[in-house]
Amino acid sequence: MLDTKFWRKYFEVYDILNVVIPYQELMKELISKLEIKGGDFILDAGSGTGNLAIMITKKGGRVIGIDFSEHGVGCHKKKDVGAEVICCDLTKSLPFQNNYFDKIVSNNVLYTISLEKRLDVVKEFYRVLKPSGKIVISNVREGWKPAIIYKDAIAKEYQKNGSIKTLIKIIKLIIPTLRMLYYNSKIKKEGAGINSKFFSENMEKIGKELKII
Ligand SMILES: C[S@@+](CC[C@H](N)C(=O)[O-])C[C@H]1O[C@@H](n2cnc3c(N)ncnc32)[C@H](O)[C@@H]1O
Repeated sequence: MLDTKFWRKYFEVYDILNVVIPYQELMKELISKLEIKGGDFILDAGSGTGNLAIMITKKGGRVIGIDFSEHGVGCHKKKDVGAEVICCDLTKSLPFQNNYFDKIVSNNVLYTISLEKRLDVVKEFYRVLKPSGKIVISNVREGWKPAIIYKDAIAKEYQKNGSIKTLIKIIKLIIPTLRMLYYNSKIKKEGAGINSKFFSENMEKIGKELKII
C-alpha cells in the first residue's frame, strides 16, 4: 500500500532525482507552464521533499506545499527553513477557503491516489482555485516502465556529458537508483493506476472547462 510509511522509505533516496536530466526537464516544463508572475499564490499539492516548491519560490511565487508525509514535509523544511508546508491528506477537504490560490501544481501525485478518490481531489483543487486560476498537473503515462525511464535518463546523460562522466554517475548512484527502481515497481504494482482519459471523461462531473495539453 502506498501509505506514508512507503513514502518515508522512498524519500530516503528520492532527491537523487534532482541530478537526473528527465526530472530536471520536467520541473522546468512545469515552471514554464505555470507562467509564474511575482507574488502568484501557488499550491503545490503533494509537494514531497519540496523540490518543485523551492524552484517556484526562487521564481518569485509564494507557495504553500501540502503533503500527507510528515517525513516529506520535514525534508522540505530542512532544505528551505522558511517554506510554508502543511501536513495533510489530499483526499480529505483541504484546509483553505474557496477561491484561495492563483495557481495549483501537482507533480506525479494524482496517479498514486485511488481512482475513486481522485475525482474528489480534483474537485477540491477547483474549489480552492480562483475562478481565473490555472492548474498544472503532470502524471506518468499509461504503460510507463521504470526501466525505460531509467534508460532514457542514461541516454540523455550520455548525450550531455559523455561516456566517462555518465559511467561515474551511474556507479555513484547505483544503490539509490536500484532502490528507486524497486519503489517505482511497487508504485506500478500497488498504485492506483493510470487513466489517461480521467480528465476528458470527468469534465462534466468536475463542472469546469478544461484545456488538456
Ligand atoms: C512521486 S511523489 C512526488 C513528489 C513531488 N510532487 C515531486 O515533484 O517531487 C508523490 C507525492 O505524493 C504524496 N501523496 C500521495 N498521496 C497523498 C495524499 N493522499 N495526500 C497528500 N499527499 C499525498 C506523497 O507523500 C509524495 O510526496
